[in-house]
Amino acid sequence: MQQLIIDGGKTLSGTIKINGAKNSAVALLPAAILAENTATLYEIPPITDIDVLIDIIELLNSECIQEENKIVIKNDNLKNVTIPQELSQKLRASYYFMGALLAKFNHVEIYFPGGCNFGSRQIDFHLKGFESLGASVTILEDGKYVIDAQELKGADIYLDFPSVGATINLILAATKAKGKTVLNNAAKEPEIINVVNFLNSMGAKIIGAGTSTITIIGVDKLNDGFSEVIPDRIEAGTYIIAGALIGDNLKIENIIPQHISSLLTKLKEMNIPYKLEEDSITISKAHNIKPTNITTLVYPGFPTDLAQPITVLLSQAAGISIIEETIYKKRMGHVAYLNKMGCHIEINDNIEKITGPTNLIGTEVEASDLRAGATLFLAALIADGKTVIRNVEYILRGYANIVNKLSNVGAKIYLEEI
Ligand code: EPU
Repeated sequence: MQQLIIDGGKTLSGTIKINGAKNSAVALLPAAILAENTATLYEIPPITDIDVLIDIIELLNSECIQEENKIVIKNDNLKNVTIPQELSQKLRASYYFMGALLAKFNHVEIYFPGGCNFGSRQIDFHLKGFESLGASVTILEDGKYVIDAQELKGADIYLDFPSVGATINLILAATKAKGKTVLNNAAKEPEIINVVNFLNSMGAKIIGAGTSTITIIGVDKLNDGFSEVIPDRIEAGTYIIAGALIGDNLKIENIIPQHISSLLTKLKEMNIPYKLEEDSITISKAHNIKPTNITTLVYPGFPTDLAQPITVLLSQAAGISIIEETIYKKRMGHVAYLNKMGCHIEINDNIEKITGPTNLIGTEVEASDLRAGATLFLAALIADGKTVIRNVEYILRGYANIVNKLSNVGAKIYLEEI
């Protein structure tokens, strides 16, 4: 077990380079087992969720060869085996093996996925979609999901909500289904385009990624493929917020500005200046921050994954700000600890009312999920004195080399074994 210690108040200056996107990489690796022989993925981030996916791929008897910035997956000996609960429950993205194995073998045995716990996170859209493609879904007494199809057949599918996970999972399942699948009300997140480009590099026929209607024409086989993971827009957003809190010309590089346009708009509304270049942004501690209101929405709306981190910035604005969380209504695990550090935040159902500005004081806190952890390290960076963050495993699931990245720009931060 480890805890993160941060001595607050140190100005951040220099450059932080953003890694490949977690939520792309965790779909690209399961998708890689669809390659007939070899798939090559560049810029996979060094985070613990990736380690678990590699364990699952190796359990399936494929080889993962890791080099500096790439992973080569060799599927020559791929076998279809049950993915046990101890692996599936370690992360959300284990559910992508449902779609990938179904496409490859017409049969999957796996347990319910894990992932950050902020209320109910069902997979009913995924399962209904598999059924529409002709699969049967049986849940055994011990919780094992057995998904089986004689043959997968293309279908017209409507998602009740544009779920990121269901969109990618159903694309995976439909790649080799007979005929045409049309996914209506699909999610439009950039990570979906990244995964579709990878599948198309293997010979899949998928059009419309990035729009709400995605068409998949089933093919007989997928050849070798490659892809580069897009920059992580949530990691970028987190460090941009750090710059606005305590930066001195902090440069965040390897970003795609279009992917963070909702955040940039909110910074403008808050009177926070920044300098944007083609693939970087430079930002300094902001003064006279104005309050604002934020509603989380699917892409290109304001991402739920940045709603927790931006709370810290809103706590420094003069006046009342509101965050309405519409995607995960119970994603509020950060609030009690921010209040313990000195914030004034009230929760009413899925709405946070933040009254600022407030001075934050270092104390002992616990990450309740990945982005709650990010929120706490942001608060710790500006707090007076020392903050101890427990449950740091959550943070390491999604923030690559966080201690090095922040130390290199001047933060006083270290991990301690407990
Ligand atoms: N939903 C259902 N049924 C389903 C699927 C989703 O009711 O079958 C609901 C969810 O409960 C939620 C909404 O639909 O209210 C959206 O869920 P979605 O399926 O889009 O989320 P996800 O695929 O499980 C991914 C990311 C999350 C990110 C969300 C929203 C991965 C592995 N996870 O989750 O990332 O918050 O999309 O953008 O890609 C994070 O990075 O911290 C994180 C939690």
